[in-house]
Amino acid sequence: MLSVEGIGKSFGGIDAVKDVTFTVDPGSITAIIGPNGAGKSTLFNLIAGAMKPTAGRIRLHGEDVTGLAAHEMARRGVARTFQTTQLFAEDSVLDNVITACRLRTRSHLWDALLRTPRLRHEANMLRERAMAALAFAGVESLADRPAGTLSQEAQKRVAIAMCVATEPKLVLLDEIAGGLNPEETARVIQLIRKLVEHGHTVCFVEHKMRMVMQLADKVVVIHHGRKIAEGAPNAVSRDPAVIEAYLGGNSVVAGV
Ligand SMILES: Nc1ncnc2c1ncn2[C@@H]1O[C@H](COP(=O)(O)OP(=O)(O)O)[C@@H](O)[C@H]1O
Ligand SMILES: [Mg+2]
Repeated sequence: MLSVEGIGKSFGGIDAVKDVTFTVDPGSITAIIGPNGAGKSTLFNLIAGAMKPTAGRIRLHGEDVTGLAAHEMARRGVARTFQTTQLFAEDSVLDNVITACRLRTRSHLWDALLRTPRLRHEANMLRERAMAALAFAGVESLADRPAGTLSQEAQKRVAIAMCVATEPKLVLLDEIAGGLNPEETARVIQLIRKLVEHGHTVCFVEHKMRMVMQLADKVVVIHHGRKIAEGAPNAVSRDPAVIEAYLGGNSVVAGV
């Protein structure tokens, strides 16, 4: 589904991501792990079209999509959550999902440019799609609540609903369980499994090793912008290079 080939991103001569290659199979769950500042979020920004790579190629279903803008990637079925959930606090949860869907796919541009008779019909469709996405994420009942009143877990669920509303093939989750307690994390893990059951492919950045071990079919380890290991969770957690580089020699990964 996704092929990242020798991708690189440098900021003023400093390599945030350097020569990273991996593939993501349809229907799979891939975890991207690595210490703070390793380049994980930058990698997601490159895949989602938020940043243009300075080297390498990205292919989606075989199509070369390197350097395409975020809305073009969204239209091709790539959705992502941000490390810090960004909601309009005063707006309702439903309006937040609708706005995200319009912004991400730029359907608002078409609305503005082509005032077609179908406009109202499209607005209704978008609303229905947003409600369905909230229901999928288990937060339908919060649709009319101001987004600023939500719990951490509900915010994460809404962030996932914002992805689902764009009808993605590939969902990128950037530390979706950050700030959640173990019970909340377990419920979010269930929701990620549900994404895959419903035909989405998932790629997630995560620090919670238990979650990585439970969910991932494949783990890609990034250190100083480079891929240092890739494989099944059990194999990667025993990889001496990973234990040394990623954990500074202690055995947190192995000890999950
Ligand atoms: N927009 C940017 N401009 C300059 N440097 C950046 C930018 N975004 C990220 N970086 C740098 O790239 C490196 C990787 O950051 P990031 O991808 O956020 O790491 P991670 O998500 O793994 O913690 C860091 O050194 C960070 O300071
Ligand atoms: Mg990050």
